[in-house]
Amino acid sequence: MKQQLLELFQRRFACHQFQADRPIAAADLTYLLEAGRLSPSSFGLEQWKFVVLTTSGDKRALQAACFNQPQVGSAGAVVVILAKLADMDPDSDYVRRLLAREYPGEQFEGALKNYRGFHAATDVKAWSATQCHIAAANMMTAATAAGLDSCAIGGFDPAEVRRQLDIDPIRFEPALILAFGYCATGGGEKQRLPLQDLVEYR
Ligand SMILES: Cc1cc2nc3c(=O)[nH]c(=O)nc-3n(C[C@H](O)[C@H](O)[C@H](O)COP(=O)(O)O)c2cc1C
Repeated sequence: MKQQLLELFQRRFACHQFQADRPIAAADLTYLLEAGRLSPSSFGLEQWKFVVLTTSGDKRALQAACFNQPQVGSAGAVVVILAKLADMDPDSDYVRRLLAREYPGEQFEGALKNYRGFHAATDVKAWSATQCHIAAANMMTAATAAGLDSCAIGGFDPAEVRRQLDIDPIRFEPALILAFGYCATGGGEKQRLPLQDLVEYR
């Protein structure tokens, strides 16, 4: 298990061109979304919403909003991860419901007070999007486990994505786009800095 997980990390690579429109089995798509759903999040507030596009027309239109990156149009499925904004308000029903679940009974009022202070001092859009990136990482690892390839797409025009998907900007901000499918090419050699350049033990 330990070794298998590292092998998945080794094997995943950013695919820049998928086998055009080769579909992803519904069960595999659900598996990826499940990996996103089970991800950890700040205060347990599950800041993500997943919008799934599978039709050629939708994917090709979205490609135009992603500086025409071909992996978007050729993917079997594209998942646009939206970061929740309005729901993160400390007075929203959503926060009350999820905080009460995370901090039941007597803990609730203290947790809400703590969250209120945190929320007031935080760039909510950036913070919410950060949680979406955690879900994205898990989904890409899950894709590798399911025999699929993936590419994270941060290069997009948010206003254009909002327009195409008819997103309410008060409620959501596009955080990251994930393209999934079967890559038309293999991955190159993994390029990473060695651990000794990255780690400082104290
Ligand atoms: C948040 C994020 C945004 C990214 N955006 C893009 C993108 O817009 N287009 C692209 O081709 N790759 C994108 N990538 C993929 C990276 O370029 C790639 O992961 C990195 O170069 C390492 O290569 P590897 O994933 O093949 O190991 C993105 C990756 C992340 C994590």
